[in-house]
Parts: sequence; structure tokens; C-alpha cells
Amino acid sequence: MALLLEGRTAVITGGSTGIGFATAKRFIDEGAHVFITGRRQAELETAVKELGDNATGVQGDVSDPEDVDRLYAAVAASGRRVDVVFANAAILEAAPLGEITEEQLDDQLGVDFKGVVFTVQKALPLLNDGGSIILNASTTAARAADGISVYGGIKAAIRSFARTWASELRDRKIRVNSVSPGATDTPGIAVLASMLFPGPNAEEQFENYQRSIVPMGRYGTPEEVANAALFLASDLSSFTTGADIPVDGGINQI
Ligand SMILES: NC(=O)c1ccc[n+]([C@@H]2O[C@H](COP(=O)([O-])OP(=O)(O)OC[C@H]3O[C@@H](n4cnc5c(N)ncnc54)[C@H](OP(=O)(O)O)[C@@H]3O)[C@@H](O)[C@H]2O)c1
Repeated sequence: MALLLEGRTAVITGGSTGIGFATAKRFIDEGAHVFITGRRQAELETAVKELGDNATGVQGDVSDPEDVDRLYAAVAASGRRVDVVFANAAILEAAPLGEITEEQLDDQLGVDFKGVVFTVQKALPLLNDGGSIILNASTTAARAADGISVYGGIKAAIRSFARTWASELRDRKIRVNSVSPGATDTPGIAVLASMLFPGPNAEEQFENYQRSIVPMGRYGTPEEVANAALFLASDLSSFTTGADIPVDGGINQI
């Protein structure tokens, strides 16, 4: 059977761990060459080594537009164009209303909002007509999540970007969609757990809490989100644009 992404080039921001890494692996298994990014050089190198010859790492911070320029300069220098962009990199800093600092706000706006805008905008000259843009949103875009209102508010904006950019890019037949993971078992979840449940057994407490609220009673896996990203990246989703795919164990659906 033909591979779903044979001969295609994908760019995944934040591909050294978690959902981005699992998606890079899935895309490569389906025949793609994948450029991944991350701020930490050592983690990036480890990821590229594990992913093999069809992965290229470009160190950089998506909140710095010059780093995003360097990313696409590296893609262009390899002689490739881009078929798929997965704007995945994000950070999360927990604080309830009343305790949100300017620094937390600026950090998250820089990475999660500005970073997504420039990851996508700066891809456009290299992106093939008919390409696919995937944004990583979150269930928090559409439901209350105490302590992470800034993150959730930005993710609601990400969901909105998918709608408008899908409309703006329709003449180039570029599809734009988002995925909305629920709590997913990645290094990022441990950080969130320690912020929401300070003290010992943070991860256990957070996992128990998620089990109690998620209809399917567990975390998602990064591979389950990667499968949704693969659908959106490939021709399997050729009539899907402006949409969001929840990968959330039913928490926002039931
Ligand atoms: N895990 C969940 O439960 C969950 C749920 C809903 C949505 N999501 C979304 O899924 C995406 C990935 O989350 P994850 O849980 O897989 O996170 P993760 O395991 O913490 O991985 C995040 C990746 O992004 C990179 N990164 C972070 N900040 C960056 C920056 N400024 N520039 C470039 N790369 C950066 C990290 O590498 P460096 O640290 O080295 O930069 C890492 O490769 C995010 O958009 C997140 O909001 C996750």
C-alpha cells in the first residue's frame, strides 16, 4: 500500500519531545522528511538520532521571528519545499486570575500565540499549493480549566486562526485545521501537574483528577494525537478545512 506522506516535507515546531516527536515519527513512517525544532540543542539532537535520516533538527525558539526565519532558510537550503506545517510548540504557565504576572502573560503570548502566527506566516512562501497546515490547540480552548486561563484563552485564538486562515488560503488549496488534545501523557503534562498540585505526588494527583473527569478514564497518548495530525496532513482529509479534531477521551464531547 502507498505511504500516506511519500515524498512530502513536513515542518514540526517543538518536535523533540511529546506530541511533536510522536508526530514526527508517524510522518516519517508514512514516507515524509520532517524538520523538527526545539530550544534545547541536546534534546533536539537526541530526537533526530532516534528519528533517523529522514529527520532534520533546527534549533530555535518560535517566539523569536529571526529563529523562525532560520528554520525556513534551513528548509530552503536543503532544496525542499514544504507540504505540511504542524505548529505544535507551546508552553504553559499556571496561575489563577489574581496571580497572573506580566512575565507569564508575555512568555505564553510570545511562544503560543506569536510563535504560531509566524510559524505559519513565514512558511507561506515555501509552502506548496495544496499543502496542509495543522495547529495544535487544546480542549482548554472550549472548556474551563482552572489555573490556566491564559493558556486556554490563547488556545481559543488558535482554534479561531484555523477558521480564518483556512478561508484566506482557500485559493491556494491549502487546508488549515487544528487538533485539540485533552490531557496527553507527555513531559509537558508533568510540568502542568506540578503547577496545579504543588507538593508531593503531583503527577499521581493530577492523573487521578483526569481519570475522574475524562469519560474514557485515562490520559491520551502522544501517538493518538499524532494519528489525528497524520489524517489532517494527508490526502485522507482532502475535504476537511477550518475544522478541529478533538483527541480528548470525550471530555469536551459527552
Ligand atoms: N500534553 C497535553 O496534555 C496537551 C494537551 C492539549 C494540548 N497540548 C498541546 O500540544 C503541544 C505539545 O505539547 P506536549 O505536551 O507534547 O509538550 P512537551 O512534551 O513539553 O513538548 C513541547 C515541545 O515544544 C518545544 N518547545 C517549547 N517551547 C518552544 C519554543 N519557544 N520554541 C521552539 N520549541 C519549543 C519543546 O522543546 P524545548 O523545550 O527544547 O524548546 C518540546 O520539543 C502544545 O501545543 C500543547 O499546548 C498538549
